Order: sequence, then C-alpha cells, then structure tokens
Amino acid sequence: MIALMTTQRSVAYVIGAVIFIGAAFFIVSQMVKGRAELGSEIELAPNRKQYLPDEELEGPKLNAALWSAFGLLIIVALSLPLVWLGEPGREEGARKDFLHTFEHRGELLYSEGAQCVKCHGPEGSGGAASFVITDENGKYVDTVNWTAPALDTLMYRFSKAEVMDILNYGRPGTPMPAWGVVGGGPNTVQQLNNVIEYLWTVQLSPEEVRKRVDEAVAGIDADLAERMIATREANAANANVIDGNSEEFERLSIADELQLGEILFSLKGDSVGGNAFNCSRCHVAGDSYGKPWESIDTIARGRFGPDLVGIEQNLTEKQHYALVFTGSEAGKQYGASNIGSGRMPGFGVNANNGATDDRRKFGPAGIYSPEQIWAIVTYERNLSAVRAGAASGSSKDGGQ
Ligand code: HEC
Ligand code: HEC
Repeated sequence: MIALMTTQRSVAYVIGAVIFIGAAFFIVSQMVKGRAELGSEIELAPNRKQYLPDEELEGPKLNAALWSAFGLLIIVALSLPLVWLGEPGREEGARKDFLHTFEHRGELLYSEGAQCVKCHGPEGSGGAASFVITDENGKYVDTVNWTAPALDTLMYRFSKAEVMDILNYGRPGTPMPAWGVVGGGPNTVQQLNNVIEYLWTVQLSPEEVRKRVDEAVAGIDADLAERMIATREANAANANVIDGNSEEFERLSIADELQLGEILFSLKGDSVGGNAFNCSRCHVAGDSYGKPWESIDTIARGRFGPDLVGIEQNLTEKQHYALVFTGSEAGKQYGASNIGSGRMPGFGVNANNGATDDRRKFGPAGIYSPEQIWAIVTYERNLSAVRAGAASGSSKDGGQ
C-alpha cells in the first residue's frame, strides 16, 4: 500500500512538473513574442482585426462549435453518474486503506512497542514467560515458566469489549501486565484498538480450529476421535437438533464423555495454542506452569477462575452447558445465583459473530463443537469424585 502511495505521489510530481515547465515556457515565449511586436498593437491586437463575415461564421464553423460543445456536454453528463457509481467502491477502498493503517500500527505495537510477541509468539501463535511467584507476604516461592496462550483464536473466545478489558487491566498475579492507561499501563485506547485490529488479521479459520482440536484428540486416542466426529456429523444431519441443549441431541457414551472431557479440559500442545483451548489454565492452580492441582495454600496464584470441584452443586447440567457454550457476560446472571464478569470465555460460539466490527466474518461456530462441550461438562461434574480419589489414594498431590 505504501508502494502504491509513492507511485501515486510520483505521478502527481511528474504532472506538476510538466504543467510548471509548460507554463514557464508559455510565459517566456509570450514575452519574447510581445517584445518583437512592441508598438504594433494597433494593427495586431485581435479586437482590431476584421473578423470573419456573417455567412462564413454562421455556416459550418458555428455548427462545428455547437457540435463540439454538445459532445463535451454528453461527456460531462455521462461521467458524473459514472463517478457516482464508483463512489461506494472508492469509499470502501478508503476505509480498507484506513484499516490497514491501524492494523499496521497494531502490528508494530505487538512486535516492537509493547513486545507482546516475546510472550505470545509471532502472529499470536503462543509462547511462555518466566515468572517469580511469591506468597502473600511477598516472600519468594518459585520461579516458573508460565505459558502465554496463543492469541490466534482469541476473537472466538472473547468479544472485542472483553478483549479490551483484558488488555486494559492485564491479569494480576500472572506475567500478563496491564497495558491500558486506566489499568496503570502505558497505552492509550487508540493504541490498544490498533492491537485488536492487528489480532483480527491473525485469527485462524473455523475449519483450521476444528481440525487442530480433532487432530490433538486423535493423537491421544484415535478411536475416541472417530466416535466424536461421527456424533458431531449425526447431530449436524438431524434437522431437529437446533443446539446442543435440544432434546434430540445425540451424546457420546458417559465413558467417552469422561475421557474426552478430561482430554479437552487440560488440552495442551503447540498446535492448540499452548493452552489456549483448555479450561485448566484458569480453573486449576499451577496449571499454567506445569504444576496442576498443587495445593492452593502453598501457591496462591495462577487460578484465575473459580475452583470447579463441586460445580454440580452450583449449576444444573443445562445451565452448566449453556455457560461453557456462550461464556459469561459482565453483569449478567448465569445459573441460579451467579453474576458473570465477562472473563469466562465462550467455547461453543464465536463471541464476535454478528458484531459490526467482526472483521473476519467467520460465522457462529466457536472453538468446540456441542458434543465436545457436553464431554467437558460431564467431566467437570465428576471432578469431585476424581479429586476425592486422588486425595485419598496417595500423597502424590503436593509432590508433582
Ligand atoms: C511478559 C509476558 C507477556 C507480555 C509482554 C504480554 N502478555 Fe498477554 N499474557 C501473558 C500471559 C502469561 C497470559 C496468561 C495469563 C493467565 O494465565 O491468565 C496472557 C494473557 C493474555 C490475554 C488473555 C488471553 C486468554 O485467552 O485468556 C490476552 C488477550 C493478551 N495476553 C494479550 C496481550 C497483548 C495484546 C500484549 C501486548 C500488548 C500482551 N498480551 C503482552 C503474558 C504476556
Ligand atoms: C480465561 C480464563 C478462563 C478459561 C480459559 C475458562 N474459564 Fe471458566 N470461568 C472463568 C471465570 C473468570 C469464571 C467466573 C465467572 C465470571 O467471572 O464471569 C468462570 C466460571 C466458570 C464456571 C462456573 C463456575 C462457578 O462456580 O460459578 C464453569 C462451569 C466454567 N467456568 C467452566 C469452564 C470450562 C468448561 C472451560 C473450558 C472449556 C473454562 N471454564 C475455561 C475463567 C475461565
């Protein structure tokens, strides 16, 4: 785009130079001519000369003048609507150029100004940050390598306003600092908007997202992945299934749901954004730095969402599914007696679908399909039993 601007500018310079040189040439030639004819204005002045006789003037000459005027009129009459027809396209182009400018500025902030790239990787592909954990008295506990989630599926999980909130305030108690002035950070709202414009450009397509998760599951248990995909396709083919909560939705067996749920709840790997797809990084203390389920008393950090052990007492199965499917919204109730903060991401729907500033128009699908969400829900509702077993079974819990 910059190259295009420079060519436009140089063309303008050339035209300007031609006009300037032409004008200078004309003035000089007129002056030279005028000087030679000094004193002869009386005979040579055009208004002193005999003009053509009427017969000649009102003949072909007049017709020629009228026709050429008519021709010019037609050109003007036609070109005005043409300009008008091209106007929406021109405006669209101008808007795009404008946006590209913002995206480019956002990219600069991402990779140079704020160095998001150091932790979140090139094009938001994920990374890690070294972090010192202290206890409540500020005493050193541990130095850890904290996974920074990939940001190339971010706009599926959080609405633009929620992303702005994360950027403004960061995640206290994690390596993610506050970036907005309101949160005590260095960046203006405009700069953070630019970063978001840039992040739109690196989002993966829905097909790519689905493929990565399916392949990750298949890498752990190929048969389970096959049954999962078959269930998904059976539901998609049933016109009566409106959503995962509808009566005719066909679910995997309980055993499959427990196994698939466990896999997805803690899904990790480079192809799945480090830990961008899992739940454990927010719901299990220590998970972001490889020490999941370590006692919350010794390491009080690293669990950003509530403990989910016992969640079956708090939410009905359908409420549970709905929350994981759409995520929470700031100030909006979920379940019977909880108020959301907007910080629980939605996994079943694209959080920006239908928003006017949804740049990619990727449609409604989220990063997990309904049978996957049901599996996670079933696994979470069984966590009390799993954790009780782990606690009574051995003293492994604190050690790993
Ligand atoms: C020092 C390392 C570091 C830098 C620099 C950094 N982040 Fe982060 N960021 C993290 C970590 C670690 C997390 C995960 C925190 C957690 O565990 O909740 C995170 C979380 C996030 C999240 C939430 C993602 C999610 O799915 O929960 C967003 C969005 C984000 N960062 C954007 C940015 C942007 C944009 C920048 C640059 C302006 C940036 N970060 C700079 C380390 C960093
Ligand atoms: C980026 C952090 C984050 C991730 C990732 C995340 N959650 Fe949450 N979750 C939260 C927060 C924060 C809340 C509390 C509600 C709120 O603040 O809106 C929450 C609440 C919940 C609740 C309700 C808990 C209660 O006691 O009210 C459930 C259930 C839940 N999450 C399930 C999940 C599942 C399943 C996943 C993975 C598919 C997941 N979460 C991934 C942050 C997260």
